[in-house]
Amino acid sequence: MASMDNAVLKKKVLFICLGNICRSPIAEAVFNHIVEERGLTGWEVDSGAIGSWHVGLGPDHRAVSTMKKHNIRMSHKARQLKKADFSHFDYIFGMDHENISDIKDMAPKTYTANIELFGSYDPQKELLIRDPYYDDDAAGFEKCYEQCLRCSKGFLDSLVK
Ligand code: 4NP
Repeated sequence: MASMDNAVLKKKVLFICLGNICRSPIAEAVFNHIVEERGLTGWEVDSGAIGSWHVGLGPDHRAVSTMKKHNIRMSHKARQLKKADFSHFDYIFGMDHENISDIKDMAPKTYTANIELFGSYDPQKELLIRDPYYDDDAAGFEKCYEQCLRCSKGFLDSLVK
């Protein structure tokens, strides 16, 4: 059987959410963690924002503590989605339907990336990644982490099926 590394040729993924300080940096960190855990190599993983409000800032402190709790490394500074991303990355994942619609609005005339809902890879079929930004506590971040974990595994599993 072909190994995962040989079987997968498309290995560049970009996670997008509205602000790039909660959901998408968590998705990026969790995906990197699973890639490492599975001993996979050659993946390029990044995340970005629809909006420019938080550009240059690190993730929300609740995202940071949630990743710390799970011993997952997270190092990211928010940046905005740009036109070059649409042909550099193989997959651009949005966290909700609004993200997908905004991503498509920002796309150049021609591009090669697959634009998909990250939640479409959840074996438990929870399509929308929980947006915890307006919460009073960190519970929604834990939920977001759990969803990103399932979707990361589901996506990687889908590539070798
Ligand atoms: P994210 O969360 O898109 O998961 O990073 C949000 C961050 C900032 C805002 C909304 C959602 N905001 O309105 O500034």
